[in-house]
Amino acid sequence: MAPTEDSIKIGVFDSGVGGLTVLKALLELVPEADYVYFGDTARLPYGSKSIETVSKYAILAARYLERHDAQMLVIACNTATALALDVIKQAVSVPVIGVVEPGVERTAAESKNRKVVVLGTEATVSSHAYRKALAVRGIEAREKACPLLVPLIEEGWVEHPVSEQVSRIYLGEAFTDGYESADILLLGCTHYPLLKPVLRRVAPRHVEIVDSAQSTAQAVAKMLGENCGRESAPREAAHGAHLKFFATDSAEKFRRLGTRFLGQPIDNVEHVDLRE
Ligand code: DGL
Repeated sequence: MAPTEDSIKIGVFDSGVGGLTVLKALLELVPEADYVYFGDTARLPYGSKSIETVSKYAILAARYLERHDAQMLVIACNTATALALDVIKQAVSVPVIGVVEPGVERTAAESKNRKVVVLGTEATVSSHAYRKALAVRGIEAREKACPLLVPLIEEGWVEHPVSEQVSRIYLGEAFTDGYESADILLLGCTHYPLLKPVLRRVAPRHVEIVDSAQSTAQAVAKMLGENCGRESAPREAAHGAHLKFFATDSAEKFRRLGTRFLGQPIDNVEHVDLRE
């Protein structure tokens, strides 16, 4: 469906190209929206940075998207959501949705053993945002930082023996010491959906994978559907969707790398220089 005069404009924010996995899921479930995407490629990775730094960057990006007429914000970055969702909400006047709660909700609905494993960046894991949100729902979580996965995925080493071996080691360390019975593997990082086939192969057979990108898109679709008095947004092809991208590092690099994450060619990228 082509965007109409009254299409909602959704701002999507990530530290880089990874959040395009969330945009991809949104395009499938909410194709009638306009999208403005901000990738803070000059400052990534966020996953190794402090709460103060991530909050400062995330607020700048959120305000930028609001100035570009975003009527709601999706914080696609797990690290920014885990560390800074509350301060982002305070910094803007439009509704803000992060990726942690939707992934946790879905996990809570699916887990029978009430024990799960969450994968994320160092910063996401150190914040214990997932563990706390899951504990409220009576679920025990082992959070496992997987710092090698983001660079491997960005290198394009998805179906690659090195990535498979690294994933095997991380999951081996996570599904142990009382967590053999964990029945959900929650992907708490923008990049990990690309590795889903590999993770499926190396995770214990009984484990179900919950993808926070997918869960977030479902939550947005539900929210918008409810607001319009519908069950969910119409599911139509994404080709007509109106997309605009901003990146703080090279637009050309964003286009090249981002295409793999979005699963379609990217044009309309503008370089922006955000001053602190
Ligand atoms: N977008 C980040 C996340 O989802 C991963 C990349 C980074 O560390 O900046 O946590």
